[in-house]
Amino acid sequence: MTTGTVQGLEGVVVAESTKSLVNGIEGKLIYGGYRIEDLAENALFEEVAFLLWNDRLPNKSELEGLRQTIAAEASVPDAVIEMLKVLPKETNSMAAVRTAVSMLSPYDPDAENLTDKDVAQRKAVRLTGQITTICAAWARIREGKEPVAPRHDLTLAQNFIYMLTDEEPDQTSSDAVNVYLVLLAEHGMNASTFTSRVVTATGSDMHSAVVAAIGALKGPAHGGANKEAMKTFLEIGDPARVDEWFQTEVKQKKRRIMGIGHRVYKALDPRAAILKRHAKALAQSTGNTKWFEIANRLEETARADEYFIERNLYPNVDYYSAIVLYTLDLDVDMFTPLFVMARVAGWTAHIIEQMGGRLIRPKAQYVGETDLAWVPLEAR
Ligand code: ACO
Repeated sequence: MTTGTVQGLEGVVVAESTKSLVNGIEGKLIYGGYRIEDLAENALFEEVAFLLWNDRLPNKSELEGLRQTIAAEASVPDAVIEMLKVLPKETNSMAAVRTAVSMLSPYDPDAENLTDKDVAQRKAVRLTGQITTICAAWARIREGKEPVAPRHDLTLAQNFIYMLTDEEPDQTSSDAVNVYLVLLAEHGMNASTFTSRVVTATGSDMHSAVVAAIGALKGPAHGGANKEAMKTFLEIGDPARVDEWFQTEVKQKKRRIMGIGHRVYKALDPRAAILKRHAKALAQSTGNTKWFEIANRLEETARADEYFIERNLYPNVDYYSAIVLYTLDLDVDMFTPLFVMARVAGWTAHIIEQMGGRLIRPKAQYVGETDLAWVPLEAR
């Protein structure tokens, strides 16, 4: 580490925010004053989005109004769907979603309005609906199926299941997606949210900030960890192989277990605890318990190991969400786009909070040479 620098900006406070409190020591998470456990148990994703955008819970008619508006605004321009259809089928799903979201901006009448916070909130509502449609459309297009248009009578979680399957959404799947979306909607100054605020602080537009955030979320150290965690469980393949895999891959080859560890949480991520319960219930209700058993056994093995104990390494939100999403029959490459569907609520809330704020421009500690003599090209 270089003197005067904070590697990875750990612990540096870069903004005041009313959106969420992440207490990494006690393993607590609060959105706008409300405990994540209460929100996961009781709230619709739309209710949480309203809370993040307005700093208060909606009443009944406000909630129904927001649900209807998101559903009504969820249609995406035909050109965006056509663009998704011409992408190579093996395109990384996050690259497809990132490209589609970028392409929404020329069709958004308010795209270049950079100052009005009411307009920004309308854009946030629109983007939240449209991103769900894009994710479901891409999931079908990459399998050679026609996309399904959103319905106006459904919640966002139901609409996603409907657009994904072209069937009436069932309660268990919609509830599981809703809980997932609530838990992933917001999380303080994480890497993608910070990215969105940096872009916004230059005076740039909401679509640019969300596209940049999607790019940050794609990385395996951040949102990309959910699909990497599932790939690990698939690689292990059998609960009986967990111990051997841990000894060989983690202890000998020093591989990281994806979905474990967190910059802020030095206790169990409260979202992981909730998702673990849902993953277990879903596994039992479908009769497919293998993946949950592998994940659970790997967690127990890691948590009994001195290395993981000393470094306070616990499962994070991506660990058991991988099991939930896999049990819902979602392709592994679609896991991180689902994270986008949820986190767009938090990103846009932070973008609106950041609008009009000061340019974010830290410094680098220059550690290179300063007095080199110029060498002409022919002499190098
Ligand atoms: N498996 C094994 N060892 C780990 C793991 C892991 N998953 N995570 C961290 N460690 C070890 C590191 O090797 C390091 O050990 P050392 O002190 O001997 O060098 C120590 O724990 C601290 O790790 P850092 O990388 O310094 O912690 P940092 O805060 O920079 O990184 C991160 C946090 C990126 C999440 C890390 O724990 C990781 O790579 N986890 C796996 C990827 C993952 O699950 N990401 C999702 C995070 S949640 C989210 O973004 C939605």
